[in-house]
Amino acid sequence: MCGIVGFVGKKKASKILVEGLSKLEYRGYDSAGVAVMQDGAIAVRKCKGRLANLAEKLEEDPVNGTIGIGHTRWATHGEPSDVNSHPHTSNNAEISVVHNGIIENYIKLREKLESKGYAFYSQTDTEVIPNLIDYYYEGDILAAVRKATTKMEGSYAIGVLCKDDPGKLIAVRKDSPLIVGLGEGEYFIASDIPAVLNHTRDVYLLNDNEFVEMTLDGVNLYNEDGEKIEKDVYHVTWDANAAEKGGYEDFMIKEIHEQPKAIKDTMTSRIMAGQDICLDKITLTKEQLENIDKIYIVACGTAYHAGLVGKMAIEKLARIPVEVDIASEFRYRDPIITDKTMIIVVSQSGETADTLAVLRDGKKKGARVLAITNVVGSSVSREADDVFYTWAGPEIAVASTKAYVTQLVAVYTVALYLADLRGTLSKDEIEEIKKEMLTLPEKAEKLLSDVSEIQKFASKAYGEKDMFFLGRGFDYAVSLEGSLKLKEISYIHSEAYAGGELKHGPIALIEDGTVVIATLTQEALLDKMISNIREVVTRGAKVLGIAFEGSTKVEQVCDEVIYIPRTLELLAPVLSIMPHQLIAYYVAKQKGCDVDKPRNLAKSVTVE
Ligand code: F6R
Repeated sequence: MCGIVGFVGKKKASKILVEGLSKLEYRGYDSAGVAVMQDGAIAVRKCKGRLANLAEKLEEDPVNGTIGIGHTRWATHGEPSDVNSHPHTSNNAEISVVHNGIIENYIKLREKLESKGYAFYSQTDTEVIPNLIDYYYEGDILAAVRKATTKMEGSYAIGVLCKDDPGKLIAVRKDSPLIVGLGEGEYFIASDIPAVLNHTRDVYLLNDNEFVEMTLDGVNLYNEDGEKIEKDVYHVTWDANAAEKGGYEDFMIKEIHEQPKAIKDTMTSRIMAGQDICLDKITLTKEQLENIDKIYIVACGTAYHAGLVGKMAIEKLARIPVEVDIASEFRYRDPIITDKTMIIVVSQSGETADTLAVLRDGKKKGARVLAITNVVGSSVSREADDVFYTWAGPEIAVASTKAYVTQLVAVYTVALYLADLRGTLSKDEIEEIKKEMLTLPEKAEKLLSDVSEIQKFASKAYGEKDMFFLGRGFDYAVSLEGSLKLKEISYIHSEAYAGGELKHGPIALIEDGTVVIATLTQEALLDKMISNIREVVTRGAKVLGIAFEGSTKVEQVCDEVIYIPRTLELLAPVLSIMPHQLIAYYVAKQKGCDVDKPRNLAKSVTVE
């Protein structure tokens, strides 16, 4: 998730681009850059690190043109570095591109371009785009961009400058956001509305495969067949602060609603129907896997909860014993680690001190370490043997939501990958799970489209002092995460228990009116969970059930039920966690809490 901007006007472009990028820094802050038309050439300034570094560079080495493009990067392919920063420019320095998205077939395109004599200098997928456009360029830059996009698979919003056509900016989007800002004799492109709000409130909201041709004379829009199209102008009425959150009140709720896309992005180029799972940063071979007799999944907090799901998925699919542990416990308990051990560390930030210590210690003792992380170039990604990047984009809210669901996608994908290597599942069985995984973004979208029942529940429950979460198997792992979400942002005391453990102590806490949230997605455990619910109902509990659509048995024992779209029981956590996140969010809002910055918590815990 990067941010792009573009400007065509009479003012100094670099200043306007940097100011626009400052409103998009929430989309990434690994590096930043601009390309500006200056004296008949494309002048590029870019560097690693925050936007402030770019601003400094521009002070030392200014660019004076009035047409330009800019980028703030959240690394997906290639670590944060100067050379991987955008804009990327064609070999002959004639075409310059900023890109937000992922080009899935970039390796194929790069090989094709290399065979035509093009050279590549970065590790990014983006670098193929300017060279591909250059390859197709025959005097008409719009035509060349159109031709290039027919060869590009994946998602993109791009802004393009061409040395031969210095008065023009071309842009297009597919599955990545892009808007056009319409000012007085000046025009803008941006990944998001806040980037243009200081200049205009009139925008075009582009759809997929709509092309923009921008000059000082105005903006032309075209469809993918090259036909001119008209669009309604959308007038923005929100204030700049709300706009940064995409119209949502807080980053947390924005990120909850970004989950369908985050899930989809994380599967991109890895899970494809009819094709082998592709994990380019995992080099573990069948022979190396044969040597591994145990896997530890180690993490903290929410990432640990994703690890619990990972354990069940890997044991079920790949039949390898897995232990899950909290990093701060694992590192001090002298666990048995040998060269037959694999350690999977899960960390959104990739910088959590305890998790990093486990990785380092594990490597010293000969273990093979796989890191699942959201941050390219983070410490765990640099030090692990294998890496799986979750492509959730930057998570701003302290309480993790979209990073968690992408960690789930990651552990399922790794489980399938290991099962495939070991031959514990047939190709058909793997295909069936992959096919269902590919439906999850759409199902998540459906689930999130109506939150009214959850809001109603929250408006009744927000005054509670305690809440309890119950589940078995995968539902227990989700209950732990639901309970953590609730306590961290609403400050309501909550506990999650495995259904079968109730009788061993916790049931003593249930009294008249106690709120219990029970998750019931596992058919084989349904009757047992229903018995557990009866046990708490008998003692006066009020129970909210979370179950698959059509699972009407649940209604007989619960006071209320939130239904979620049906999927494979194995994959249920990806969907069943969403009502939990929404409950935590709306309860906290009712209580007037600052959901994005809960008290006493930090986003990244880099100290013990
Ligand atoms: C809770 C939350 C934390 C983190 C934990 C690990 O919502 O976000 O529990 O999951 O601090 O952080 P990472 O994943 O960055 O290692």
